[in-house]
Amino acid sequence: MKNICLLGSTGYIGVNSLKVIKGSPHRYRIVALGAGKNIDLLLSQIQEFKPRFAAVINPDLAKKLKIRLNSRTNTEILYGTEGYIEIATLSDVDITIAAMTGSSGLLPTFSAVTVGKDVALANKEILVVAGSLLMKESKKGGGKIFPIDSEHSAIQQSIQGHRREDLKRIILTGSGGPFKDFSLERLSKVTPEEALKHPKWRMGRKISIDSATMLNKGVEAIEAKWLFNVEMDQIEILLHPQSIIHSMVEYMDGSIIAQLARPDMRIPISYALSYPRHLRGELPSLDLSDIGKLSFEKPDKNKFRCLDLSLAAGKIGESMPAVLNGANEVAVNAFLEGKISFLEIPQLIEETMERHETFPLNSIDQAIEADQWAQSRAKEILERIVGN
Ligand SMILES: NC(=O)c1ccc[n+]([C@@H]2O[C@H](COP(=O)([O-])OP(=O)(O)OC[C@H]3O[C@@H](n4cnc5c(N)ncnc54)[C@H](OP(=O)(O)O)[C@@H]3O)[C@@H](O)[C@H]2O)c1
Repeated sequence: MKNICLLGSTGYIGVNSLKVIKGSPHRYRIVALGAGKNIDLLLSQIQEFKPRFAAVINPDLAKKLKIRLNSRTNTEILYGTEGYIEIATLSDVDITIAAMTGSSGLLPTFSAVTVGKDVALANKEILVVAGSLLMKESKKGGGKIFPIDSEHSAIQQSIQGHRREDLKRIILTGSGGPFKDFSLERLSKVTPEEALKHPKWRMGRKISIDSATMLNKGVEAIEAKWLFNVEMDQIEILLHPQSIIHSMVEYMDGSIIAQLARPDMRIPISYALSYPRHLRGELPSLDLSDIGKLSFEKPDKNKFRCLDLSLAAGKIGESMPAVLNGANEVAVNAFLEGKISFLEIPQLIEETMERHETFPLNSIDQAIEADQWAQSRAKEILERIVGN
C-alpha cells in the first residue's frame, strides 16, 4: 500500500491521478490533497477519498471549506505554501504527486524531494526553474523522481535494460499543437479559445497555450536533460501529429526504441506510481490498423519562435531557463486576458531573456529570484507593448 499526497488534485492531471488511484484501492491510499481555489471539487474529493489533510491556496478558502465540510470528515484543512509543504512532507507519505501548475508547486515539491520522498512529477516548470538543484537534492535525499509526462515516461520505458553509455540521442515527439499548419499571417490572429483547443490532449489552460506556441516542446527538452542526464544537443524534436509514439531513444548502433500508446495521461500516471510495473488499466488495447499511418515532420522554428527560445534557454543554462519560465507565465496570462496577440508571446519572452545576465543557481532562493526577476521585467515590457 502506497500513501500518496496529491498536489494539484483539482486539475486535469490531479483528476486523472485520482481515477488511477481509485482503480487500485488495495495499492494506493490518499493521505493528503492539495488544491488551489476550486473548493467545490476539492470538497467532493475529500468526501470520496477521506484524506487526513487537505490544503488550499489561502486562509479565506480554508475557512470556507471548513464551514462546508462541517463535521462530516476528520480532514484537517491547511493553506498556502506552508500548508502545501506540510502535506508534501508528511512522514507517512510514500510518494508525492506534483501536479500544480507553473511555479506554484516549486517549494512544496522541492521540500518533498529534500526529505527523501519519491515524487511523481507532472509540474514540469519545476525542472525548468530549478532542474539542477532538484536533481542534486533528490540524489542527496534518496528519493526518486518519476515523470508524469507522456514523452518522459516513453523515454524512461525506452531506456530500461539498455546501457546508458550506448545512448546516442533522444527523439522527443510532439503533435505540433492546434496551429501546426497555420501561416504566420493566420497565427497573428488566433484567439485564446482556438489556442485552448488541442487536437489530441485535454489539458489545463497554461499547458494548452504552451503547446500551441510549442514552448512546451522546448521545456520538455529541458526536462529530459535533467531527468535523463543528457546534453541539449542530444535531444531532437520531431512532430508526429497522431500522438501514438510518445518518444524514442536511439542507440549507438542505430537501433531506435520507441514507446507507443493511446494519448491518455492515465498511462504515464499509472506507470509513475507503479514503476517498474505496468499494472492493468481500464483502456482498451491500441489497434494500430485503426490508426493506419504514423507520420513525422520537422517543426518550423521560424513560425514557432517559442520553441527556439526555450531550446536556447536550455542550452544557455544557469538562471536562463527560470527567466524563460517567469517571462512565459506573464506572457501566457496576458494572451489569455486578451492583452497581447499570439505572436507577441515570443516577443515578450525574447526581450526579457535579452535583458538577463545569467548567474549560476546555487540555491532554490536564487532560482525563485531569477523567475521573479523575469516576471517583473516581462510585466514592464508588457505595459510598453499594451501602451503602443
Ligand atoms: N494536462 C496534461 O496533459 C499534462 C501533461 C504533462 C504535464 N502536465 C503538467 O502538469 C501540471 C498540471 O497540469 P494540468 O493540465 O493538470 O493543469 P490544470 O488543469 O490547470 O491544474 C492545475 C492544478 O494546480 C492548482 N493550482 C494552480 N495554481 C495554483 C497556485 N497558485 N497554488 C496552488 N495550486 C494551484 C489548480 O488548483 P485549482 O484548479 O483548484 O485552482 C489545479 O489543481 C502543469 O505543470 C503541466 O505542465 C500536464
